[in-house]
Amino acid sequence: MHNVKKIGIVGAGQMGGGIAQVGAVSGFEIRLQDTSAGVLDTCRGSHKKRLGRLVEKGTLSQDDADAALDRLTYTERLDDLADCDIVIEAVIEDAALKKELFQKFAAMFTHGQILATNTSSISITQIATAAGDAADRVIGMHFFNPVPVMKLVEVIKGLATSQDTTSRTLALAEAMGKTPVPANDRAGFVSNRVLMPMINEAFYAWMEGVAEPAHIDQIMTLGMAHPMGPLRLADFIGLDTCVHIMDVLADGLNREHYRACPLLKQLVTAGRLGDKAGRGVFDHPG
Ligand code: CAA
Repeated sequence: MHNVKKIGIVGAGQMGGGIAQVGAVSGFEIRLQDTSAGVLDTCRGSHKKRLGRLVEKGTLSQDDADAALDRLTYTERLDDLADCDIVIEAVIEDAALKKELFQKFAAMFTHGQILATNTSSISITQIATAAGDAADRVIGMHFFNPVPVMKLVEVIKGLATSQDTTSRTLALAEAMGKTPVPANDRAGFVSNRVLMPMINEAFYAWMEGVAEPAHIDQIMTLGMAHPMGPLRLADFIGLDTCVHIMDVLADGLNREHYRACPLLKQLVTAGRLGDKAGRGVFDHPG
């Protein structure tokens, strides 16, 4: 049983915005915080558009879409999240920034609230050190992009995470319409430990001239029934994010075998970061 009515989310980027949308549609009150008014405005616009699309497609009634939008509150002030029953952090993958936030969360949320992070690879145990005595309430709640579409939430226990925190998090993810799957706290957890080496290997295959990028992806979509080829998926995730996760894997698992492919790093150096930059492995105009 999760006992959550109000969810606080920190970070209104693609992940935070997606989690907010899913939470609101599932009936939770959402307070979405970001330090940038511009990011919050973009997120509000995207929620209206995406919920409108669901109404057009007949997936959601107009009344339910209106009710979901009413349950969403956008704020620049972290203090506005103080009466939430759980906080989910979804800021950029920066360990120092996350630790600064979890130190604040420990002081703000003193009534047993869950302190969750949507990190894709940073150690939960490391983030939890910033929460002091509240470390038993820190847990990983790893959503996948696009959040409204992907069913999985990888739930990661840190060394100090209590069983009560884990049980309540699993129940909450289910109440949000997701399928939670538990994993332990090792670099990259399960998802990125398995996914990223495949993506990295696709870059090596391209670099060594085994096949053209489009053909590498075609082989994996048609032969393995992946919805996107590994190189298209790397653009979707962000090439800089892929390099960052590979670094976390190499350092955390102590194996050079996880280092990012030189070609992948070169594209990042050239600013070809994927969809968000308009160009990565492939061109993404508009
Ligand atoms: N937000 C919400 N809904 C979206 C969306 C978005 N950004 N993008 C697509 N959708 C929805 C569409 O509305 C559509 O819904 P309906 O079927 O109900 O109409 C559905 O998804 C399919 O979309 P499209 O027909 O436009 O395109 P598609 O069939 O090519 O699917 C995709 C797009 C869902 C992204 C699909 O290509 C896919 O599943 N790709 C793999 C995504 C993946 O692997 N994600 C995990 C990335 S790793 C990660 O997130 C974690 C990490 O730590 C790095």
